[in-house]
Amino acid sequence: MEIIIQPDQLQASEVAARIVARTVREKPHAVLGLATGNTPLQLYRNLVRMHREEGLDFSGVTSFNLDEYVGIPPAHPLSYHSYMWAQLFSGINMPKERINIPDGMTPDIPAACRKYEQAIRSAGGIDIQVLGIGTNGHIGFNEPSSSLSSRTRIKTLTEQTRADSSAVFGGAESVPHHVITMGLGTIMDSRLCLLLAFGRKKARAVAQAVEGPITAMVPGSILQMHPRSILVADREAASELKMADYYVWVNDHKPDWQKY
Ligand code: F6R
Repeated sequence: MEIIIQPDQLQASEVAARIVARTVREKPHAVLGLATGNTPLQLYRNLVRMHREEGLDFSGVTSFNLDEYVGIPPAHPLSYHSYMWAQLFSGINMPKERINIPDGMTPDIPAACRKYEQAIRSAGGIDIQVLGIGTNGHIGFNEPSSSLSSRTRIKTLTEQTRADSSAVFGGAESVPHHVITMGLGTIMDSRLCLLLAFGRKKARAVAQAVEGPITAMVPGSILQMHPRSILVADREAASELKMADYYVWVNDHKPDWQKY
């Protein structure tokens, strides 16, 4: 795994935006895998700015979001549909018909999940998958014990994840129990995985995912098996990495052609 440690979230999100922007510039019909939550907020602000100021063009780009809450309609203010339109889609020129987000209201969840997988395949597969990590090591909403080769499906959130989302929902009891999420196998099929992590509360999950054993109990650890995964973390999220000094040295001494 390539590990890039930056002093803070702002600088880390600049690097992340350059990585995403490079994919879009090199491949105007790129397929992006997108995450929600607090982690990618600054990345999305940067992409909107790059679109406005540098003409970063999303007109040929397709996107697939990682997950959505079951039972929350797209128009609900706390749906991931609403989040994505507020944080990214309203500020860039990606055509509406190329935007894909799981439908939390679908009457037939297994059929909708199969269709989602098929749509990713038909689009040519995901070129770059943006990921955050849960305090329990989840990526997407693949909670600990998820199959390492799982596909898009319904999952039940752990109490820890529901507690972590309680502020947004105004109390843990209001956080849905169920979600539709891409599986770990779906994520692993992406050509590049870009994992972002910020803040002290992610330090343990980051250390376990990057330097611990590959285990379904830390779903993010499957990224160790990916041929091209990049972690961009701030110092706090990287604070429990045993080899942090080495990662910083490697990054500081990269030849120009390897820099983002
Ligand atoms: C969101 C997602 C989750 C989050 C993770 C971290 O689409 O798939 O894995 O990335 O729960 O959430 P934040 O960024 O809010 O700390």
